[in-house]
Amino acid sequence: MSMTAPAARPVNPRFSSGPCAKIPQFSLDMLADAPLGRSHRAAVGKAKLAEAIDLTRAVLDVPADYRIGIVPASDTGAVEMALWSLLGPRKVEMLAWESFGEGWVTDVVKQLKIDAVTRKAPYGQIVDFAEVDFDNDVVFTWNGTTSGVRVPNGDAIPADRAGLTICDATSAAFAMELPFDKLDVVTFSWQKVLGGEGAHGILILSPRAVERLESYTPAWPMPKIFRMTKGGKLIEGIFKGETINTPSMLCVEDYLVALKWAQALGGRKALIARTEANAKAIADFIADKDWIANLAEDPATASTTSVCLKFTDPRIKDGAAFAKAVAKRLEKEGVALDAGAYRDAPAGLRIWCGSTVETSDVAALMPWIEHAFETELAAQAETV
Ligand SMILES: Cc1ncc(COP(=O)(O)O)c(C=O)c1O
Repeated sequence: MSMTAPAARPVNPRFSSGPCAKIPQFSLDMLADAPLGRSHRAAVGKAKLAEAIDLTRAVLDVPADYRIGIVPASDTGAVEMALWSLLGPRKVEMLAWESFGEGWVTDVVKQLKIDAVTRKAPYGQIVDFAEVDFDNDVVFTWNGTTSGVRVPNGDAIPADRAGLTICDATSAAFAMELPFDKLDVVTFSWQKVLGGEGAHGILILSPRAVERLESYTPAWPMPKIFRMTKGGKLIEGIFKGETINTPSMLCVEDYLVALKWAQALGGRKALIARTEANAKAIADFIADKDWIANLAEDPATASTTSVCLKFTDPRIKDGAAFAKAVAKRLEKEGVALDAGAYRDAPAGLRIWCGSTVETSDVAALMPWIEHAFETELAAQAETV
């Protein structure tokens, strides 16, 4: 193995899994049309918010009878609005295979005190969907951002289920197909696949989710920020851009710019193709290496956005310290920023491969990972 540094570097070293790389060639000048200093309830503000909803529907191909709302507090806000507003009348199943899914289990079991069936899989694996009873309300994360494991498709979810499916799709939306006929609630944040900003969430509701909202009042108090009904009727304005509280029109403009970039590229299919090409560049690189592997055990459930890697060389003495040192080295070299594994996840690297990342940059990073690995291994030998 050679210790010579690779000749080429990624042009953009931003491989963070959130906030993710902005769209290629992004510049703040692109946001010049933001109606700053104007009310978001003025015609100009409302038009921007409505356009963001319309373009979301167009790019994601959200069915016409599903509501799309822009809500506060990013993806977390959107998920918690759904959990607090919808859960209670039916049995609940919580599915988790990494840290964010586990966070939703805590919300439901410890905060809402619902006696839910909890199904968990360790990092690298996914729960068995065949065991899930979809006549219960089921809460799950489409793509586990911290484990790099995702739901492969919606085949296991019956179209005629009696329960609601509540899906945190924040690191999947725009990069993976989401079967809306199988999903009653879909949430995401702008800061992921389209490289937008944090703070705003998108909440998508099926007609059955709306029916639940209008027919059921939870026993617990509901903060204003979560309230989607008034007098037992859906507040339709929320789903036309009349947000519950004040959004950032700068962030809305930024999201619009990203959506228009996506449309110009060819829409969702093009975004998915870019993501898959990025993930493939990593899969191809690691395929013949015996010192690095995907954390996802089954390629069918391996994420194409948040690709998590583990070092498997038996010569490594302290796995956590080693992985941290590699990530630090990549950062110091300026070839990969924020590429360390999530704090609660097994030691390793996490390379964001979403649609705003260029495949040439992922490919250029690969030899640097090998170089950093070899350099750290040599440094480890010296300290023994
Ligand atoms: C799967 C998943 N759910 C929820 C969140 C929280 O998102 P936000 O910080 O946008 O609320 C994240 C953030 O990385 C995530 O990856």
